[in-house]
Amino acid sequence: MTTQDELRPTLTTEAGAPVADNQNTETAGVGGPALIQDQQLFEKLAHFNRERIPERVVHARGAGAYGTFTVTADVTAYTRAAFLSEVGKQTETFLRFSTVAGNLGAADAVRDPRGFALKFYTEEGNYDLVGNNTPVFFIKDASKFPDFIHTQKRDPYTGSQEADNVWDFWGLSPEATHQVTWLFGDRGIPASYRHMDGFGSHTYQWQNEAGEYFWVKYHFKTDQGIRNLTQGEANKLAGEDPDSHQRDLRESIERGEFPSWTVSVQIMPAADAADYRFNPFDLTKVWPHADYPLVEFGRLELNRNPDNVFAEVEQSIFSPSHFVPGIGPSPDKMLQGRLFAYADAHRYRVGINADHLPVNRPHATEALHNHRDGHLYDGRHGRRKNYEPNSFGGPVQTGRPLWAPTAVDGVTGTHEAPSHAEDNDFVQAGDLYRLMGEDEKQRLIGNLSGFIAKVSSDREDIVERAVDNFRKADADFGRRLENAVRELRKQR
Ligand code: HEM
Repeated sequence: MTTQDELRPTLTTEAGAPVADNQNTETAGVGGPALIQDQQLFEKLAHFNRERIPERVVHARGAGAYGTFTVTADVTAYTRAAFLSEVGKQTETFLRFSTVAGNLGAADAVRDPRGFALKFYTEEGNYDLVGNNTPVFFIKDASKFPDFIHTQKRDPYTGSQEADNVWDFWGLSPEATHQVTWLFGDRGIPASYRHMDGFGSHTYQWQNEAGEYFWVKYHFKTDQGIRNLTQGEANKLAGEDPDSHQRDLRESIERGEFPSWTVSVQIMPAADAADYRFNPFDLTKVWPHADYPLVEFGRLELNRNPDNVFAEVEQSIFSPSHFVPGIGPSPDKMLQGRLFAYADAHRYRVGINADHLPVNRPHATEALHNHRDGHLYDGRHGRRKNYEPNSFGGPVQTGRPLWAPTAVDGVTGTHEAPSHAEDNDFVQAGDLYRLMGEDEKQRLIGNLSGFIAKVSSDREDIVERAVDNFRKADADFGRRLENAVRELRKQR
């Protein structure tokens, strides 16, 4: 042994006993069968068999980084959230970017919304804002989400994503027209996670110290500038460097080029909601900035890579139900469904004590509750009493709800989302199309037609329903798309 070797620590078993030979299995004689007493071998193989946890049912593919959120303008007139209480105040954050449909090993450079899941480690607990890089979404009711995702994922028979399923669902779900127009436009494939905006997408509630409340929508504008890939560029990159976006994020932080976003909200006084021209709780609609301008209040910078991707990214958990005082949900039915879905997914995917892991637990305060035990409980509560009320000095409730109560009326039932004066499923998709320059319109038609043309030749009805939604959004949009699809299908 060299001196260097002598300095190296001893390899051990899980129980800490020294390992004598990590190269050769113990056998009955030279060349004989393995012995059951080689517990080191069994321990190693058994642990290896259990290395994976279930991947996220959506957004499986992603990358994350820690950062700092800094308040840049006073918003205390609108929210009493402590981490937003002072200009200059800083809060540690963790942000996980993702694609939606691909599995864990999928390529990054694909046409798909990007997840923008942000955890603020505030002194009043962790606040999670689980958004996307798109201001809207495909559907407006949580009950449609599993069906929608089934069409984006693998077909039960072919095991692949199928154009038939995707366009069948979208054609039969006209509310998707706005988001689909967005997705097949230039911003549908960001060049990197750094060169795209983020959105809270849903409407949320802010409540101030006086108890007044407001409806808000979050916007994160990239300070790196928007950069996108064309379909052709993306196809090439996805093949050459499937990890392109993950690598770009890590390497830019390693170089000290910390990506940042300027953070704003649109603020709607509570009294406006009932008569606003669009249903303010409909996730398929934006609030035009002319109606509610952006109010800038912060800067988000990512400045530290996780050390261990499995521990900190794969096991990270974000839930739209993680609010802090002064911030709460809106009655958006998609959001309401999400308030259940995420924590439930975490219990299954990571386990009942997922909130104890370093990336997930509060960093600026301590979680004090009476939940105990379960798989991998580490005994952190020691001898503390595990019930409430108690007379042993245990934690007590505040009596103050996190967000403002809101009035409701009517009867229970499976109601459709209320329609406001200018609401329909096509108006904002048409507005978006008409905003595009001629070049972008051409690329949009090319991207959409390329995919719609893949629908099976005996399912013209699916093609017709899909195209008809864009026709209803804008006659020129529909006509050009129909011609392009027809041309491509002739060539098949
Ligand atoms: C009712 C509709 C929805 C349901 C039921 C739903 C459900 C889920 C579930 C179960 C996960 C996996 C969670 C995990 O295993 O940790 C997930 C991940 C995610 N969802 Fe949704 N989702 C919905 C809509 C949305 C919308 C509208 C957005 C964005 C505005 C969104 C953004 C995300 C993001 C960013 C992630 C990844 C979080 C992470 O990085 O860990 N989802 N969703």
